[in-house]
Amino acid sequence: MTHKYYEFFCPVKVIAGKSALEHIPYELTGLAAKRPMIVTDKGVRAAGLLDPVIAACEESGLEIVTIYDDVPPDSSTTVVRDIAGIYRQEKCDSIIAVGGGSAIDTGKAVNILVSEGGDDIAKYSGAGVIKHPLKPFFVVPTTAGTGSEVTAVAVITDETKGVKLPFTSSFLLPNAAIIDPRMTLTLPPHITAATAMDAMTHAVEAFTCMAKNPLSDAYATAAVKKVSQSLLSVMDNPKDVDGRLEIAQASTMAGIAFSNSMVGLVHALGHATGAICHLPHGLCMSLYLPYVLEYNLETIREPLGDLLLPLEGPEVFSATPAARRAEASISALRKLRDQLHKRCQLPRTLKETGKVTEDQLDQIAEMALDDGAIMFNPKEVSLDDARAVLQRAWA
Ligand SMILES: [Fe+2]
Repeated sequence: MTHKYYEFFCPVKVIAGKSALEHIPYELTGLAAKRPMIVTDKGVRAAGLLDPVIAACEESGLEIVTIYDDVPPDSSTTVVRDIAGIYRQEKCDSIIAVGGGSAIDTGKAVNILVSEGGDDIAKYSGAGVIKHPLKPFFVVPTTAGTGSEVTAVAVITDETKGVKLPFTSSFLLPNAAIIDPRMTLTLPPHITAATAMDAMTHAVEAFTCMAKNPLSDAYATAAVKKVSQSLLSVMDNPKDVDGRLEIAQASTMAGIAFSNSMVGLVHALGHATGAICHLPHGLCMSLYLPYVLEYNLETIREPLGDLLLPLEGPEVFSATPAARRAEASISALRKLRDQLHKRCQLPRTLKETGKVTEDQLDQIAEMALDDGAIMFNPKEVSLDDARAVLQRAWA
């Protein structure tokens, strides 16, 4: 895979570590923001995750003007418009999104409306529509997987038309991402596992897709190593602060990697499965990753073989003949998937999820072929190919 040209862009300040949250007031003040609004969901608030954020601001004499805590798992244009209304009414001047993918995407979309004006978020959908920097925006992820804190996209459902609206602009990137292990200490095991496998998939697909480049490669391999080294120990010891920080950083690094390269067939299948069967995204990633890599194998033998080093460490890497390393990487990922099943019953097959029926596979295959992620898969995918991968993932 050679490249005549590539771009790499990540202007997000990353503030990471065990006291990262305490730095939020300093960052707000640095952008002359005095009246922040928090955008979050009920689960985050109930888990007490806002408390350290609020305490840090209070200690610095900075008032959180208002907290919107009702972001649904699949955010909509109505929710975005309502939050923008509150922001304006309360004369806020900045946004702190605290949560998983939905709260972060909602924060990005609210920032478009309150910065650009109007009530109709749909008119800003698409790529490159936004032309100006937006209001100060901070993201505190409470899951470790999506990488949304470093991606220039948001997806919001337009419920009147029943479609998902994509928004793409580098202005959606937050001013800072605050990566604090306290935010993920209480994540339930199956969510820890599934979201970490989303991060792993971002890294592996970024490293093997058509648009890979030397800079995204560096972030991708570092992310694979961190997930490989820390995920199972965090599953065994959920309060392991250092391990949690490793996974959270891996998620951010994998996010930087794939947003500067791309993903591939795992994501195309995952998006379709999410839409049709409402299966969590991270779980889909874990289910499909080994089978897609098998499908792509001959096209990605070399980079996939290189991943054996971050996946299994130097001893296994050097003991494995170069010609067998790609297969060994797939085995390592299968082993990880099986270990996660052992620890939290994370399903290993579509059938095990209990939410997919075999007669839905054709529909999933058809929808996956229309997904944008498939364009960057290293090997071209026909409908029959997609069906065959799904069949392998079935049981
Ligand atoms: Fe993903």
